[in-house]
Amino acid sequence: MPPSPPTRRTFIATTTAVSGVVVAGGVIGGAVLAEPQEAVATDAAPSTRVSLTVNGTRRTVTVDNRTSLLDLLREHLGLTGSKKGCNAGACGACTVLVDGHRVNSCLTLAVRLEGARVTTVEGLADGDELHPLQQAFIDQDAFQCGYCTPGQIMSGVGCIKEGHTGSPEEIREWMSGNICRCGCYVKIVRAVEQTAAGK
Ligand code: FES
Ligand code: FES
Repeated sequence: MPPSPPTRRTFIATTTAVSGVVVAGGVIGGAVLAEPQEAVATDAAPSTRVSLTVNGTRRTVTVDNRTSLLDLLREHLGLTGSKKGCNAGACGACTVLVDGHRVNSCLTLAVRLEGARVTTVEGLADGDELHPLQQAFIDQDAFQCGYCTPGQIMSGVGCIKEGHTGSPEEIREWMSGNICRCGCYVKIVRAVEQTAAGK
C-alpha cells in the first residue's frame, strides 16, 4: 500500500526538524562549513582622538568614531547653542560653520574634522558686541520660541558670505534648509537682508 501523503502538520514538523539538523551541523547545499567562531564580546566602540579649533580655541577630544559634530559640541564641549531638531539633516537647527562653510553638524562625523575650524553660534559675538546678524534678528523680531534661531543665524551668516542675498526670493531659496516651526520666515529673510545691506 503506498504511503499516505503528509498532512500540513506533519510536513511542517518534518521540514523544521530537518532544517534544524542541517543548520546545527553547519551543512548548507552539501558543503560542510567551519564551526562558527564565538563572537568576541566587547563594550569598547572604536574611538579616535581628534583636534579641532572651535570658536578660536584648540580642542582635543577622544570620541567614539560614530560621534557627530553636533554631539561633540553639545555633549563633549558643553556648547549647547547648536540645537538637535531632526538629527537627520532635514531641519537645519544644528547648522554650524566648518572652515567657513555651513554644514548640518548632525550629519558630520567628528572624527573627519581633524584640524578643522568650527564656528558655532557661541563664537559669533565679539565680547559683548553681537554679530550684526544676531542684532538683526532682534531688530526684526525674527523668532518666537527660538529653537531654530542658532541654526538660522549660522546659516544666514553662510548665506551672506556666499553672496546669495540679491533678493528676498534668493535669500528664501538659500535659507530653505532651515525650518522654523513658528513660521518666522518673513522676518528671518528681513534680518538677513538687513545684515547683507550693512544696515
Ligand atoms: Fe541637524 Fe535637523 S538636527 S538638520
Ligand atoms: Fe520657533 Fe523658529 S522660532 S522654530
